[in-house]
Amino acid sequence: MRLYRAKDYEDMSRKAANIISAQVIMKPDCVLGLATGSTPIGTYKQLIEWYEKGDLDFSEVTTVNLDEYKGLTKDNDQSYYYFMHDNLFNHVNLQKGRSFLPDGTEPDSEKACRDYNAVIRQAGGIDLQLLGLGNNGHIGFNEPADHFPQETHCVDLTPSTIEANKRFFAKAEDVPRQAYTMGIGTIMSAKKVLLVVSGEGKAKILRDALYGPVTPEVPASILQFHKDLCVVADEAALSEMP
Ligand code: F6R
Repeated sequence: MRLYRAKDYEDMSRKAANIISAQVIMKPDCVLGLATGSTPIGTYKQLIEWYEKGDLDFSEVTTVNLDEYKGLTKDNDQSYYYFMHDNLFNHVNLQKGRSFLPDGTEPDSEKACRDYNAVIRQAGGIDLQLLGLGNNGHIGFNEPADHFPQETHCVDLTPSTIEANKRFFAKAEDVPRQAYTMGIGTIMSAKKVLLVVSGEGKAKILRDALYGPVTPEVPASILQFHKDLCVVADEAALSEMP
C-alpha cells in the first residue's frame, strides 16, 4: 500500500487527480472505475480543469461506475447517472457510449447485475478503480456482511448508509432502500485501486480498514490484500492512524 498524506480536501483532490491523470496519460484507452459521493467531487473538478487546459484527453477512455440506486430514473438528480454527468461526463471529452453505470431503472435485479457484469467483462476489466470510504467501511455499496460478494449484486442499504446519504435527499424516506453495486471481487481485480478519504469523521473507520483485521464486517479491509493500493487521505482522516 502507498499512503499519500494530503494537507486538506483540496490537496487530497489534487493528488488523487494526479494519479488518475497519470493513468490516462500512460494508457489513453484505459478503463476507469469511478465513484460518486462527496469525496471525489474535488478530484473530478481538478480533472475537468486539466482537461480544459488541454493537459488531459478522455477520448479513448471507458468508465464503469461502482453503483447505482435501484429505482431512480436517469433524470432524477439523486441518481448516480445524473451525478456523474453533472460532475464529470458533461465537462470532458468522454465518448458517448463509453461510460457505464448499473441500470437503476431495471426492476429485474438479476438481469441488471448480469448485464453489468457483462459490461465490465467486455471492457476488459478495470485499470484503475477510484473508491470512497463509507462511514461503516463500505466500498461501492458493499455493506458490512458475513462474506465478501464477488460480482455485481443488489443490496439492501443499511440504516447507517441511509442515514449518511439522506443529506442529498429532501428527507430520509426518499433514500432508495436498495442499490446495485459492483462486487468486492470485481473491485479487487482492478489493476490499481485509489482510495480517497477526507475528514475527521472517517478517521476511525480508515484506521480499521487499513490496520484492523480483514473482515467482511469492514468491507474496505479487504483492500489490505490488494497488490496496488494507493490511499490519498487528508490529515483529518489520518488523525487516528497507528
Ligand atoms: C459511491 C460509493 C460509496 C461512497 C461512500 C463515501 O459511488 O460507492 O461507497 O464512496 O459512501 O461517500 P462520501 O464520499 O459521500 O463520504
